[in-house]
Amino acid sequence: MVVRNPHLARLPGSYLFSEIGQRVATLRKARPDAPLIRLSIGDTTEPLPPSVAAHMGERAQAMASQAGYVGYGPERGMEPLRQLLSSAVYQGRIAPDELFVSDGAKCDIGRLQLLFDPSCSVAVQDPAYPAYVDTSLVAGRKVVYWPCTPENGFFPDLDTVEPAPLIFFCSPANPTGAAATRDQLQRLVEYAHAHRSIILYDSAYAPFVRDSQTPRSIFEIDGARQVALEIGSFSKLAGFTGVRLGWTAIPRELSFADGSPLATDWSRIITTFFNGASCLSQWGGVACLQPDGLQAIDQLATYYLSNAALLRAPLEAAGLSVYGGRQAPYLWVHTPGRDSWELFAHLLHTAHLVVVPGAGFGPSGRNFLRLSAFGTRPSMEEAAHRLAAATI
Ligand code: MLT
Repeated sequence: MVVRNPHLARLPGSYLFSEIGQRVATLRKARPDAPLIRLSIGDTTEPLPPSVAAHMGERAQAMASQAGYVGYGPERGMEPLRQLLSSAVYQGRIAPDELFVSDGAKCDIGRLQLLFDPSCSVAVQDPAYPAYVDTSLVAGRKVVYWPCTPENGFFPDLDTVEPAPLIFFCSPANPTGAAATRDQLQRLVEYAHAHRSIILYDSAYAPFVRDSQTPRSIFEIDGARQVALEIGSFSKLAGFTGVRLGWTAIPRELSFADGSPLATDWSRIITTFFNGASCLSQWGGVACLQPDGLQAIDQLATYYLSNAALLRAPLEAAGLSVYGGRQAPYLWVHTPGRDSWELFAHLLHTAHLVVVPGAGFGPSGRNFLRLSAFGTRPSMEEAAHRLAAATI
């Protein structure tokens, strides 16, 4: 007799973006010609920088020769990639041997659950990226919501929240677009020291930070190495949502309550559950972190932020409070008194715009909509026209 993992019953029926996909498919069936514009899942649309595609192409060609063929790669990822991540992303704050290259941040979020005893509850920003909650539920954890609202500047009130041994924290945040300040992150790190918690810091949206005072990594904060690990991604950095590449940084000081290092167990887990990111993706990552690649990917982030400005204008003209979008590719739109799933359906059927209902990110999102600025410029211009005409 095979017994189902009982924790699966704690999950909502579908993952948020699958649920949205199903509702869109229903409309598509009824109205195949509906000119849909997706402001929903944060999926990149702009082509890879030419230098990145060229480098991956050369490496793929080389695989057809005996001299250029490679099989399994190093367990932690290619040395040149880890060197470049250490220097270009972390300015040496994280050493190459503290980096573990992966097939993406979401996969690492799931695998990280294997490190910690199920009795360790987890705190999430409310609203939060649903993968933090869903992977924690499957792991049998209690999830504690830390409200992040306009009233507290989208930063949890650390004096009143329920403590938890594990803290998922994303900045710039998905879905609110709020980028935590240095002072806020310093307080979070001090809180983790005081409560002997570990921060699972998601920096997937760091490439969108534009203000030089806003940290791009938790490791810019004093004391973070003892209480935090960081999950990074090339998806939004370089348009690798399809290519797949990410990493997790685990400082050697980070340890469990018994004093044993996290990195040792993480290494054991990834060598058991995973055989490394595709070598072609990793060569693409190497090209992204060369000077011309870095310049190109910064231009990509600027492009999407300009889209965000386009979408913001009609919403603010309609008198709505719009958050995010300045250092993040998401707009977080306050729609007081309106149920977000109802508004989702309204915009889908009347304007053929696919947005994300805030309720899908947690209880504090129920009166918000999330709009993604990932899209081509013409589609974003058209979306802005439709938003101007819509009743929200
Ligand atoms: C989102 O739309 O929240 C993200 O793109 C989803 C993801 O990164 O998996």
